[in-house]
Amino acid sequence: MAGSSQVDLTHHLSTETRLRKPNPMKAIWRLTRRKADMISLANGDPHFTLYPIRKLEFEVASVEDGVLDPVSSWRGAGASAPSQSFTTTTHSGTLPLKAAMQYSAGAGLPDTQRVVTDLTNFYHSPPDHVVTLTLGNGDGVSKCFRLLGEPGDHFLTDEFSFSSLTNAPLSHGINWVPVKIDNGGLVPEELERILSNWNEEQQGRRPHVLYTVPCGQNPTGCTLSVERRRKIYALAQRFDFIIIEDDPYYYLQYDADGNEGETFKFMPSFLSIDVDGRVMRVDSLSKVMAPGMRLGWITSSALFHDHLVTLVDSSTHHPHAFGQVFLTEMLSSSGWNISGFDRWVRSLRKEYQRRRDYFLRTFYQEVSRTGLASANAPEAGMFVWMKVHIDKHPRYRSDVQHTNGSKAKTNVEELMEELFERILDGGVVVMPASIFVAPSDLNKFDSDDPIQDRLNFLRLTFAGQEETMQPALARLAQVLKEFFADTK
Ligand SMILES: Cc1ncc(COP(=O)(O)O)c(C=O)c1O
Repeated sequence: MAGSSQVDLTHHLSTETRLRKPNPMKAIWRLTRRKADMISLANGDPHFTLYPIRKLEFEVASVEDGVLDPVSSWRGAGASAPSQSFTTTTHSGTLPLKAAMQYSAGAGLPDTQRVVTDLTNFYHSPPDHVVTLTLGNGDGVSKCFRLLGEPGDHFLTDEFSFSSLTNAPLSHGINWVPVKIDNGGLVPEELERILSNWNEEQQGRRPHVLYTVPCGQNPTGCTLSVERRRKIYALAQRFDFIIIEDDPYYYLQYDADGNEGETFKFMPSFLSIDVDGRVMRVDSLSKVMAPGMRLGWITSSALFHDHLVTLVDSSTHHPHAFGQVFLTEMLSSSGWNISGFDRWVRSLRKEYQRRRDYFLRTFYQEVSRTGLASANAPEAGMFVWMKVHIDKHPRYRSDVQHTNGSKAKTNVEELMEELFERILDGGVVVMPASIFVAPSDLNKFDSDDPIQDRLNFLRLTFAGQEETMQPALARLAQVLKEFFADTK
């Protein structure tokens, strides 16, 4: 790429990716754009006059200047909330249905790709990257895994991580290597220790992919500081690994000392510091618009982009037109524009921050008071990682010898399983830490400080109904009191 400082990272591609051939029919299909007056007798494209649809009307929250706090105006005023409307028809709109509803390329509709590129430039100014539309981050991240993962490979991730996705590449023969975390998320020194001690003769190829969630990590709620991001990126360059930056909570970052209010600055992403082309950033509309949108995008080097497109060209072809039309109109002057999107997400982060604060106040009153559990305030995202002070339980043991090969020294795992059932009986559903343990051969990576001895956490969310938070936390506190009083 002319003027690009990106390095050649071809050796990270999986065999599946290298073997995949571009879809030959898509190659012919692209030729229809070679000249303005090209006539195509090539494709089985239904004629647009036969689409049984000619108009889409959207009514969305108003983000106009007069609306001071778009999110609270929208949710507070119900049907009379200020709104904006726009219409797309067969021949009119930023992305008319005539074009939008036709088959397109794996990268997404060119107009949609353009507005999403503008959005990415606005927040991250990536040096030299290209956007590929996806069906959200679940889709985006699992495509990255396939792009890079070879059976027998080891990938790195936070020791507690988003199991929906760490589960995905297991059937492709990927092994996970858990990296220790603390309150600030993934610890760079631990990452360095693992990589410098890696013995390729005994352990196979050194891990060449890190999957991480830098803001409001799921499940722990941790956010990586700028300093840690820079250290991790330097390690990626030194040990030659790719960073998959799964960042659905980027816009839900909360005030911190000296960074608050109208001038709030979003944390620099890994993408924004990526000079080599070794970051694959994965963005989603699920948390800032609606999960049912099933729309997101990957921002990567042109090399990875081309291979992603080849994968999509021979499978799903591209995301649905309805979402792409909506997004294109929203991010153009017919809708919110990027400045309006920015107003919305800034207002949204305040709304989630208010919910977080309400949740934590209630948590401190109801749960912390028992002295049996505690929690830190997350700096981003939707989750509180509640620590259960399990060592206060009368049946807690720290001298256990397991017969099943586990190196755990305590009975934390058993006690937490019991507590989970009791909480369910008490009428509350929570996520136990055990389901987020990065799936790995623990005995290989985790001998001195087994994760089974550190499963005394529960993931709680403050994303839902405020009205149910207080009764849920009161029930949780009651269950904890009864459980800890139980000597059996
Ligand atoms: C870390 C993380 N990645 C990915 C996803 C899935 O996102 P999407 O709805 O865009 O597929 C979630 C959703 O909860 C998430 O927390």
